[in-house]
Amino acid sequence: MITTCTRKTLAAWLMAAWACTAYPGMQATGQTIPMETRNTALVLQADDKKNLQILYYGEKLADAAGYAQVPQAYRQTAEYTGVLASAYTPAGSRNLAEPAIAVTHADGNTSLDLRYVTHTKQEVAPQVALYTVTLQDPVYPFTVKLFYKVYTQEDVIEQWSEISHQEKGPVVLNKFASANLHLKASEFWLTHYHGDWAKEMQPETSRITHGIKTLDSKLGTRANLFQPSVFMIYPGKPATEEEGTVLYGAMEWSGNFRIDLELDYQDNLRIVAGMNNFASAYTLKPRETFATPAFVFLLSHHGKGDASRKLHTWARNYKLLDGHGTRLTLLNNWEATYFDFNEQKLFGLLKDTKRLGVDLFLLDDGWFANKYPRNGDTAGLGDWGVNRTKLPNGISSLVKEAANNDVKFGIWIEPEMVNPKSELYEKHPEWVIRQPAREEHYFRNQLVLDLSNPAVQQFVFQVVDNLFTENPSLAYIKWDCNAVIFNAYSAHLKNQQSHLYIEYVRGLYNVLAKIRQKYPKVPMMLCSGGGGRVDYAALQYFTEFWPSDNTDPLERIFMQWEYSHFYPAMATSNHVTAWGKQPLKFKVDVAMMGKLGFDIVVGELKEQELTFCQQALRHYHDLKQVIWQGDLYRLADPRQGSFASLVYVDATRATGVMFNYLVNNRYGEGSPLPVKLRGLDPAARYTVREINLLPGTTSPVNPDAVYTGDFLMKVGINPQLTTDRASVVLQFSKVTP
Ligand code: DGJ
Repeated sequence: MITTCTRKTLAAWLMAAWACTAYPGMQATGQTIPMETRNTALVLQADDKKNLQILYYGEKLADAAGYAQVPQAYRQTAEYTGVLASAYTPAGSRNLAEPAIAVTHADGNTSLDLRYVTHTKQEVAPQVALYTVTLQDPVYPFTVKLFYKVYTQEDVIEQWSEISHQEKGPVVLNKFASANLHLKASEFWLTHYHGDWAKEMQPETSRITHGIKTLDSKLGTRANLFQPSVFMIYPGKPATEEEGTVLYGAMEWSGNFRIDLELDYQDNLRIVAGMNNFASAYTLKPRETFATPAFVFLLSHHGKGDASRKLHTWARNYKLLDGHGTRLTLLNNWEATYFDFNEQKLFGLLKDTKRLGVDLFLLDDGWFANKYPRNGDTAGLGDWGVNRTKLPNGISSLVKEAANNDVKFGIWIEPEMVNPKSELYEKHPEWVIRQPAREEHYFRNQLVLDLSNPAVQQFVFQVVDNLFTENPSLAYIKWDCNAVIFNAYSAHLKNQQSHLYIEYVRGLYNVLAKIRQKYPKVPMMLCSGGGGRVDYAALQYFTEFWPSDNTDPLERIFMQWEYSHFYPAMATSNHVTAWGKQPLKFKVDVAMMGKLGFDIVVGELKEQELTFCQQALRHYHDLKQVIWQGDLYRLADPRQGSFASLVYVDATRATGVMFNYLVNNRYGEGSPLPVKLRGLDPAARYTVREINLLPGTTSPVNPDAVYTGDFLMKVGINPQLTTDRASVVLQFSKVTP
């Protein structure tokens, strides 16, 4: 088309361009691949030259024949390349935009062209279909398979690719995306996140302008520290909780990622998402397969609330480890003792665990290392022998004492890392990621072990396996990861240094898979010096994650609010700690909106405070299924007013738990207006009871009043927040006739 067009005069050419227009070459060839979910459709089509294009991604049409008519509805400017809407854009042939894949062939040639060959559809589970589309270079024996796993009920799609070739020598992959999408709308808006330690999940929303906006990480290990891969795109205007179109996207990858959002000259949005190719050119031998991780996305036309409920359901059904199982409430000793403890002190904390009424005691950092005892964060990491001065009778004595107190026992590890001041570092400097000829650079006084090396993988596995072998009733692991990768260099990878970032993460997943093979369901918390590492690939191995070391409840309201868009409450560990000046009730109420835990000195609680915590834990026990498995409706955004409100409603719409938090302490602030509920049964009748009341206080909310669901959703209920009632938890119960 382009050669025909360029021979014309400018005016004639422009007119012809309108005619050739938006999706040139989209003449039907019979190879339309409609991938439909309950409400959406992602439709691919091979054009007459077998270029695989995205024909449509939007609301599902009642008549699938309509997808072929979509291109005619657009009158956009000329498309010079014919591959702007490519389903997997190759570099070096006719493409002029950001590629999904770029390679150097065995003969040094850097061009790639990919044409449709075939596709299959497989029902891999009820309501889950896997589409596989095979693309082939017409000149080189180079193949890409695109995979789309379509979760019909949740409107979720996972996309990834497999790259292979049969050339005469190795091919270098310079870019290797998981997914490539193409959206049309009058304008596009983006919400993405940035952060740092104790400041995770800070949102930013802006209109996408022409050019490329890149979300990425080059940190290697705690990849999300400055920027997570989760984001939202609004085709049109920013969606609200209840209205508007929104795409949620995220990489399922715990290492460097790169997401390019390119608003092209035709005003369409191209999304290219995958592992980061930064310093990561990958040499692929003939007949080897390079599999990219999945990019998960979903499109909702009913706002952010609908999108996150679907993502939560998908996560619980298919991704999060033990997504329909239970979770343990716990008492952690990190802030209570830091590194300063011994057996006697811990015996006391085990008693406190029972007294408080939580399920488990979690022993944090500081229990190991002898030559260089772990009495601070400068030494001992990597030496996993129990510290004989602090714990002369070993971990098993603590596990036994936990059982005597009728509580479970869990333990902290950080097995991917090493302090230079450690026996491990002395013995195996070749296991450490470091540039041998350069000055070492530390992050929290530590370095990262080289998980691309199978011997290191075995060592890390052994750390966990030994703990379980020696203490079969160990009930919980907190897996920390505090350092980023500086001076990336692997002694093991020798002349393939550019594989390190990728092989590191693959090595980590090997270890985690092996752990899960042997210990399928033991709860494990994914922690990374706060919230530096969470994604849906990692959450296949972990039951929960630690959002931030910042447990100031005021800050947590905002962070938990943002995390709640992408991760279900049962996976979000919230602890009550000494951070923040707010009263204990406020802290407990805030932590209760996710997976509840404590990290306090129980012995310092006043009698009334202890009674309050015990009572709150009983409420939590009664309501945790609703919080963990229920549908979340975010009702009042703390960034848009003086308070936050959200409610979880169980599947039968019989019970709801509403959390309300005042975030503005100025004179007279509160909730002057009622908050409209969502998700209740309009025809049902409900009572509303305030729970988590401090001993000796009463609630202004009348527990005997009965409201219809219709009333509660149209008029609402007032939690009666004031500066003296800064947090209010309400339980909705359907009245049985
Ligand atoms: C960082 C974690 O986020 C904390 O909760 C704690 O486990 C420390 N590491 C221990 O060193």
